Amino acid sequence: MKILAIETSCDETAISIIDARGGFSAPKFTVLSNQLFSQASIHAKYGGVFPNVAKREHSKSLVPLLKLALKEAKILEKKKKPILSEKDKAFYTKTLSREHELSEQFLTFIKNTKKPKIDAIAVTEGPGLEPALWVGINFAKALSHSWNIPIIPTNHMEGHIVASLLNNSQKKDEISIPKISFPVLALLISGGHTELVLMKNWLTYKILGNTRDDAVGEAFDKVARMLKLPYPGGPHISKLSESVADGSSRYKLPRPMIHSDDFDFSFSGLKTAVLYTVKKIPRLTGKIKAEIANEFENSVVEVLLSKTKRAAKQYKVKTILIGGGVSANKRIREQFKNSVAELSNTAFYVPNQDLSTDNALMIAVAAYFRTMTRIPNKKTKVKNTILKEQEKKANLKASGNLSL
Ligand code: KG4
Ligand code: ZN
Repeated sequence: MKILAIETSCDETAISIIDARGGFSAPKFTVLSNQLFSQASIHAKYGGVFPNVAKREHSKSLVPLLKLALKEAKILEKKKKPILSEKDKAFYTKTLSREHELSEQFLTFIKNTKKPKIDAIAVTEGPGLEPALWVGINFAKALSHSWNIPIIPTNHMEGHIVASLLNNSQKKDEISIPKISFPVLALLISGGHTELVLMKNWLTYKILGNTRDDAVGEAFDKVARMLKLPYPGGPHISKLSESVADGSSRYKLPRPMIHSDDFDFSFSGLKTAVLYTVKKIPRLTGKIKAEIANEFENSVVEVLLSKTKRAAKQYKVKTILIGGGVSANKRIREQFKNSVAELSNTAFYVPNQDLSTDNALMIAVAAYFRTMTRIPNKKTKVKNTILKEQEKKANLKASGNLSL
């Protein structure tokens, strides 16, 4: 089954095409294309993501990115004679009426391009920035209408969960999912989320803990700003921190909620503690910045690890995985790997660094898993907890029935 996936939830415009097979028992994917345009340098000027700027950039980039993806997948074919009915033109113009640039490009594209061999369109329907999400959703609707294939509304966080399992086998573009043992504990750490999620089976979720204020990625970005580092701050903090030897930072920051008897997190106090520390320093040298970055990172890792380990023991999990942009952090990856190795009979998975941050490949794979839950299967009876809620919210309508 060929799935084209679209991701526009924040500041990355991404399109991927996969050929998926194997069902839940032995899922395998050929990556036919995985395209991404990062808007980071555009948002860097403002020190953070502006939803309407993100929307405008997605509008500009989607059609060129789609063409690149189809070309790479070798399924981009021109029509012999450009053709577009007035009725279809009216539908696309209405569907894309809020995305003027996209609308113009889309009409030219659809008029001139043959329907490719794609079976379904996956699109991120949340969580994310509303204006940014809708560009992707409306684009998916327009494509679905034109190609007469269904839409699979896909949850962004579910994408981050599956990203940790996308192991490249010997061949670069062939991906297989390892056999994982349940229960699984997923720590999701991104710009918008900090969640500990328990999975008793594929696609069933119980949220054990959440952030009460800032998400961990948000804290990285805000602390980076205090240290006068560019957006997005996470990678810069990580790099600076690397230059400091363990335990040599002169600064001491709190470990918020590390001893609370729940699985919630809070990072706003930590961020404020950095602010007070910075305010007392007359001149922020590179060395001081690196030491603060290092201590901040230490605090984050200790809190995340402590809560994850406690949840793992309490729920007797057999697998721990981490996902989301912050899972690209070197120290977090290393310390989690070492700590999980000390737990008996617990496997650990983390995404390849380039799949930690937002991408469309993870959306394509999550969508494939979703399609399988729609096949009546009395044995598994998987609960679509996240999806049902999101589906109602986004009110997406597939233009055809999904059959495998
Ligand atoms: O998952 P993601 O790409 O987008 C959201 O869904 O939010 O995560 C983006 C976040 C940003 O806050 C960014 O600073 C952070 O991930 N990030 C990192 C690193 N790379 C990205 N944080 C810490 N260390 C990194 N190496
Ligand atoms: Zn994300």
